[in-house]
Amino acid sequence: MMEKIVIEGGKRLKGEMTVHGAKNSALPILAATVLTTKRTVIHNCPRLTDIDAAINILRHLGCVVDVDGDCVTVDASDINCWDIPDTLMREMRSSVVFLGAVLARTGKASFSTPGGCEIGLRPIDLHLFAMSRLGAKINEEYGRLECECPEGLVGDKIALSFPSVGATENAMLAAVTAKGTTSIINCAREPEISDLADFLNGCGAKISGAGEGVIVIEGVKSLGGTEHTVISDRIAATTYMAAAAVTQGQIKINNIIPAHLGPVIPMFEEAGCDINVCGHSLSISAPPRLKRIKTIRTMPYPGFPTDAQAPIMAMITVADGTSMIIENIFESRYKHVNELVRLGAKIKVESKVAVVEGVHCLYGAPVIAGDLRGGAALVVAGLAAKGTTEIEGVNHIDRGHADFEKNLTLMGAIIRREKE
Ligand code: EPZ
Repeated sequence: MMEKIVIEGGKRLKGEMTVHGAKNSALPILAATVLTTKRTVIHNCPRLTDIDAAINILRHLGCVVDVDGDCVTVDASDINCWDIPDTLMREMRSSVVFLGAVLARTGKASFSTPGGCEIGLRPIDLHLFAMSRLGAKINEEYGRLECECPEGLVGDKIALSFPSVGATENAMLAAVTAKGTTSIINCAREPEISDLADFLNGCGAKISGAGEGVIVIEGVKSLGGTEHTVISDRIAATTYMAAAAVTQGQIKINNIIPAHLGPVIPMFEEAGCDINVCGHSLSISAPPRLKRIKTIRTMPYPGFPTDAQAPIMAMITVADGTSMIIENIFESRYKHVNELVRLGAKIKVESKVAVVEGVHCLYGAPVIAGDLRGGAALVVAGLAAKGTTEIEGVNHIDRGHADFEKNLTLMGAIIRREKE
């Protein structure tokens, strides 16, 4: 059934909320459960359609998965399968993160090639490079990817030409039970990488250096079970901060990890917001009119996250002055721009660069979410806009935001979901 989100904008956000667990941490951790024959319990696992897609893959592989609220229990003792059908791969592009774990566990992996997605061409050459460095034989034919390592994987040096998050995760997953030592050079340093390492180490893996430039993994024979709590979602938190900022709001967000918001907090301060961090809570208070943010460059962590680019852009559409965004990570991650322009924003894009000339006011209109973060940006803009904004393509937003409308409603927004 087609759904849309309807917002009556212009309401100041005020109140308190708790942010859910990080989707991009929970996904590789769910993939990692494939490596162990013992039961693993994952707490703070957000209830999102992307998580459902990962659970469907686990069940297809032969795992017994039990979901109780935000607690997911996986028993992977009877894995009996190494192929992931096209239908399951298409539900979520990041299914490719199952590659390393399935290959390491079963000695084989057969996947359909993921292809592109809404934010551009998304090659997996670095993932395959990492697998081949560990001794996998790879064949790509007829849209399928066949990997094999009948003798098992063997640790080696993997020097990534770019610190890809997914390739780093896949390399870690493949290496934890490989023979000997693996080092991943120029690895991604995102908090989600450290969370994955913590989960794996909890299962008995020997990973050091996560969060730094080189990860070293001493292979172990097998992994045991563990209980793990997923870190909180720094992008969801940033999106709520943008929603507060754009409505002259004042909110408190609980369950955050302050260090993970380090790359975004200065942008809110530059825009004139007051930020107060106390323990695992953050309070943000917005000025009557936001100031422009001179330059935002998306970069691998600890740089400014590409996933926050769209919601922050929505925020600065109404700032006083002109801001510039440079998107360095994905080649076509400006699909939300045309929709923001429909709401009255003044934005010009020239390849990687977006110039956002702040306007006094946005006006509600029907718009379409084309991808997850772009969709969240339309919600942010809709909260600021005068009148009614109707957002289609809600399925994209549901991939990454649990209880979005509920949380916003509790803080005073007028937002609802309608079925067509
Ligand atoms: C992860 O994607 C996240 N997804 C993305 O979040 C996030 O935007 C991205 O990291 C960057 O932070 C998950 O964690 C599930 P990359 P990933 O590999 O791993 C190129 C969201 O909205 N590249 O670091 O796919 C690639 O094309 C999503 O939650 C290669 O060229 O990101 C891109 O330009 C969207 N070859 C750049 O690297 C490869 O083999 C960064 O990609 C792999 C990547």
